[in-house]
Amino acid sequence: MTGQSSESAGLRPARHPQTVLVAAGRPADEPGRPLNVPIVLASNFRAGNQGQIAGREYSRDDATPAWEALEEVIGELEGGDAVAFASGMGAAAAVLDLMPAGARVMAPTDCYAGVHALLADGQQQGRWHVDLIDITDTAAAVAAARRADLVWLESPTNPLLDIADLPAVCTAARDGGALVAVDNTFATPLLQQPLALGAHIAMHSATKFMGGHSDLLLGLAVAGSPQLGHRLRRRREVAGAVPGALETFLVLRGLRTLALRLDQGQRSAAELARRLADHPAVTRVRYPGLPGHPGHAQAAAQMTGFGAVLGFEVQGAAAANAVCDSVRVIRSATSLGGVESTIERRARLPGQEHLPPGFLRLSVGCEHIEDLWADLTSAFAQAGAAGSPRRW
Ligand SMILES: Cc1ncc(COP(=O)(O)O)c(C=O)c1O
Repeated sequence: MTGQSSESAGLRPARHPQTVLVAAGRPADEPGRPLNVPIVLASNFRAGNQGQIAGREYSRDDATPAWEALEEVIGELEGGDAVAFASGMGAAAAVLDLMPAGARVMAPTDCYAGVHALLADGQQQGRWHVDLIDITDTAAAVAAARRADLVWLESPTNPLLDIADLPAVCTAARDGGALVAVDNTFATPLLQQPLALGAHIAMHSATKFMGGHSDLLLGLAVAGSPQLGHRLRRRREVAGAVPGALETFLVLRGLRTLALRLDQGQRSAAELARRLADHPAVTRVRYPGLPGHPGHAQAAAQMTGFGAVLGFEVQGAAAANAVCDSVRVIRSATSLGGVESTIERRARLPGQEHLPPGFLRLSVGCEHIEDLWADLTSAFAQAGAAGSPRRW
């Protein structure tokens, strides 16, 4: 992984992202203090004397120490003002709440299904109008971005791993006066920095790689200006989508090892993608790190690594289901970004009808590559032997 240096505050020299992950968001460096921010279970704090408003009075409005520590780490990594939410969807909803009634929202045709559901609900209620665009078609995306009020981007997309030309689409959106938000969940701030590429907001489901252990839900929206950060905090405060104390502590702990986990996962993902492309059971592999991926050059230009998620297709839904049922090291489960590899046939879910029926999303974790490969090849053999519609 070849992360870029991020500027740190004051006179300190710029620190590498790997160092920020480990060193930022700690209590003051004083004798007797804990090294980690403690879990503070508090809804309310002592009020100021004589009716004065104290700096921190009520958690939903004023945060807890661990949210602030988490926001410090992610803010330094992304180069913006980070605001933590109860989940990735909480962060996405807060961004959409910034839109006035009747706004035009552009979003990718392939996009996290929950965001599609949020957009569809709002459109049905008359809150906004949604333009779904194939973001691999840069000319179409640029044209749609120019007429939008909010441009919602995801790159790589979940689950097809499409790549958008982020600088081109962000520039078009800004020229037309739109707000641009990029869901950076697959890349994490280590591999892609949307604010530096022209977005106003970088959004994360920290449930995935940041938490890294499939044991929590949390989200973040990182604003490119303090004014925008203030507006997002206001949405959090009044809508109440606040992160829990334990979850925030666990994401902070997960972040300490993010660079190591992601490095291992993406090295294995790249190797598995190469091997899968040569396997007779596999009809297509989607991984931006493969030179044959249509978005490879664009991904190489705007990312410092290709990530730890890949997709591949086998011959139809029954074969794909059989592969999920046959893996033993990889877990057949939804979600991604954990230390454990997970595989899912996404087309089984409502709202994912655009996906090929035999498409499988594989999130590559920290197991040994040879165990993952042996698991996949034996699952292919078992699925074939179990009488899938097409013999491999
Ligand atoms: C790319 C992406 N964005 C947003 C979300 C929503 O995040 P959460 O489940 O934390 O609400 C997800 C969840 O799977 C996701 O994969």
